[in-house]
Amino acid sequence: MTITSSTADLEWTDDGQPLSRQFDDVYFSRESGLEETRYVFLQHNRLAERWAALPEDGHFTIGETGFGTGLNFLCAWQLWEQLAPAQAHLHFISCEKYPLSADDLARALALWPELAVFSQQLIPHYRLLSPGWQQISLANGRITLTLLIGDVLDTLPLLDAGQGVDAWFLDGFAPAKNPDMWQPELYRQLALKAAPGCTLATFTSAGDVRRGLQAAGFAMRKTPGFGRKRDMLCGELAEPVHPDWQAPWYRRPEQSSPVADKSVIVIGAGLAGCCTAFALAQRGWQVTLIDRHGSLAAEASGNPQGILYCKLSPHATNLSRFILSAYSFSVRQLQQQLPQGEAHWQACGVLQLPGNQKEQQRHTQLAQLGLPEDVLRQVDADTASKLAGLSIDRAGLWFPAAGWVNPPALCQALATQPGITPLLHTAAISLQQTSQGWQVLDQHNHCLAAAPQVVLCTAADTRQFSQTRHLPLKAIRGQITHLPASQQSEKLRTVLCTDGYISPARFGEHHLGASFRFDRLDCTPSPEENLSNLDLLDTLSPVLSALWPQARAEASGLKARAALRCTSPDYLPLIGPVAEAESVLSCYAELGKDASKQPDRAAPWLQGLWVNCAHGSRGLISAPLSGELIASYLDGEPAPLPQDLLAAVHPNRFLIRDLMRGKVQAPANPTQPS
Ligand SMILES: Cc1cc2nc3c(=O)[nH]c(=O)nc-3n(C[C@H](O)[C@H](O)[C@H](O)COP(=O)(O)OP(=O)(O)OC[C@H]3O[C@@H](n4cnc5c(N)ncnc54)[C@H](O)[C@@H]3O)c2cc1C
Ligand SMILES: C[S@@+](CC[C@H](N)C(=O)[O-])C[C@H]1O[C@@H](n2cnc3c(N)ncnc32)[C@H](O)[C@@H]1O
Repeated sequence: MTITSSTADLEWTDDGQPLSRQFDDVYFSRESGLEETRYVFLQHNRLAERWAALPEDGHFTIGETGFGTGLNFLCAWQLWEQLAPAQAHLHFISCEKYPLSADDLARALALWPELAVFSQQLIPHYRLLSPGWQQISLANGRITLTLLIGDVLDTLPLLDAGQGVDAWFLDGFAPAKNPDMWQPELYRQLALKAAPGCTLATFTSAGDVRRGLQAAGFAMRKTPGFGRKRDMLCGELAEPVHPDWQAPWYRRPEQSSPVADKSVIVIGAGLAGCCTAFALAQRGWQVTLIDRHGSLAAEASGNPQGILYCKLSPHATNLSRFILSAYSFSVRQLQQQLPQGEAHWQACGVLQLPGNQKEQQRHTQLAQLGLPEDVLRQVDADTASKLAGLSIDRAGLWFPAAGWVNPPALCQALATQPGITPLLHTAAISLQQTSQGWQVLDQHNHCLAAAPQVVLCTAADTRQFSQTRHLPLKAIRGQITHLPASQQSEKLRTVLCTDGYISPARFGEHHLGASFRFDRLDCTPSPEENLSNLDLLDTLSPVLSALWPQARAEASGLKARAALRCTSPDYLPLIGPVAEAESVLSCYAELGKDASKQPDRAAPWLQGLWVNCAHGSRGLISAPLSGELIASYLDGEPAPLPQDLLAAVHPNRFLIRDLMRGKVQAPANPTQPS
């Protein structure tokens, strides 16, 4: 996987149609792209009849090769609005190697006034399309668009399609113009990711394509093509394909489908809990949101200003790839759910400044990756100063769509979604599995709430529960310092970051942070940490220290807030299902002797128990997508991340790594999960 990217290189014909220079082919039929889409993809996948017959809370997944201008997607969305039940959910996955720029997309879609009501909803969120999985939630969560940015032959094998793709739109330029894509491996992947009964339609009737699809397991037939085209192909999956081996400890637990009782308890009402509750409520789940405090976001998520701070590596590390998908999703969610303003959030941009030469090199390498300009670009000191509103002495990396957020405001907006019932002032002490699911118990073993599914969003306190005590979570104290704004400091227009950050003023205060302290776990603010935060000012800009000349002397009187972050050993969050730790060790004991073994036994899941924690110093970036990921597991939907990243954030990863490295051994007398 790479994180370099390229956009579509277009030419516009005299009659205003887009043409790809990369492929020397048209994006859609000159006669009537819209009618062709409806004929080839909608009609020959029998979408109208299948959607009209969906149950009230049904799901449908479409997969497409080549998002292009999004015409197929919008036509499908339009038909969905006309025919699908109001509570049903459409997931549209589309692979795209060369995404159109937002301007080109808008220009192409302007050709279809009939679709304007849909394109106008898509266009504002069609942005920040870094390579990898890019999820866009539309129509109040009724439609999910997941763009897999990259070559389909690289991305599709990593797709976790949940319950599978119900209909494929096999698009992409003509096989003669794009032979690299129309390969047997593509057809095999289409079959592998298909749900039982999956259909497929394509505009081409090329013999190689038909034979390739047949060899992969599709029953294909020729049928009259659209307009002047003689034939096209359509068909359905004839026989289920034997999937490649996939590590069972990372596979999805078997869920009953459709889920009979869509009720769930989310414990912890910080960013992770509120994002999880929101994603589930959007999909029709009844969520009980428990927290021990009397308000949402009372712990780590309670700072007045948090920063959308993407700390990226120029290499395609798991962490960087995760951040690129999660960051874009966070910005889109903020755009949709929280009005900008002093109380809520501000997309004022984030300027990252190198603290040393190595950092500078990292910035240059990142700038050379060719990530979309709306994600990041390098700016010289002059431009940096103009953007920041005060003198900056170095070149930096500019993230124009980022900014600061008041996390409690975000939590509040998400948790007031219909379907979420907060249960505050309620400490969950233990969990008990029953035949119906889970009971959450208080200190007297009284049941506080019961549901088939429980999601623990309890940061480092997740270790309080016996079922999740084995997770290697650590609490790290941090403190932010409030600095009173002055006429001079109010000129700061963006967030400035090095290792720490300072925000533009909000209600007369800047926030400066944050300390990392390993020797204390209380949350009483300390003057030492105010001082170490003030040291950051020098690293950000020499003019900043001069703005608060008395601050060091008054460090003990400065307003501050301390809280605990929760981190994991590899700094990635833990998001996913929980298995019974000792049983995992005995189930896969052979890995201790030979890590290349491929056992196929299902993992000993604690059915219905999930965690979402360890968001470290970047909860604003990671929590919104983490909520989507948990919801995709519970609902059997396609995942918002590729399979290797699902493994990278999987709660089982530490157990399995330790087993493979011989650091732990299977217990002599294994216990079985109850
Ligand atoms: C000083 C500091 C500065 C930071 N700055 C930034 C920043 O600029 N940008 C950024 O993205 N991130 C930042 N972070 C990190 C960010 O705040 C966290 O990643 C995020 O808040 C984690 O959210 P969470 O929901 O996992 O945890 P929390 O917000 O801690 O939520 C956990 C919740 O679980 C509840 N809970 C726990 N156990 C129980 C139980 N047994 N029963 C009932 N309720 C329970 C708690 O009451 C709490 O509300 C910062 C963190 C700190 C400490
Ligand atoms: C004909 S256009 C698709 C039209 C599109 N479905 C629409 O509704 O506008 C073909 C698309 O496939 C993309 N494509 C071609 N080869 C690809 C590949 N190997 N991987 C991913 N996308 C590819 C092209 O960049 C282009 O956007």
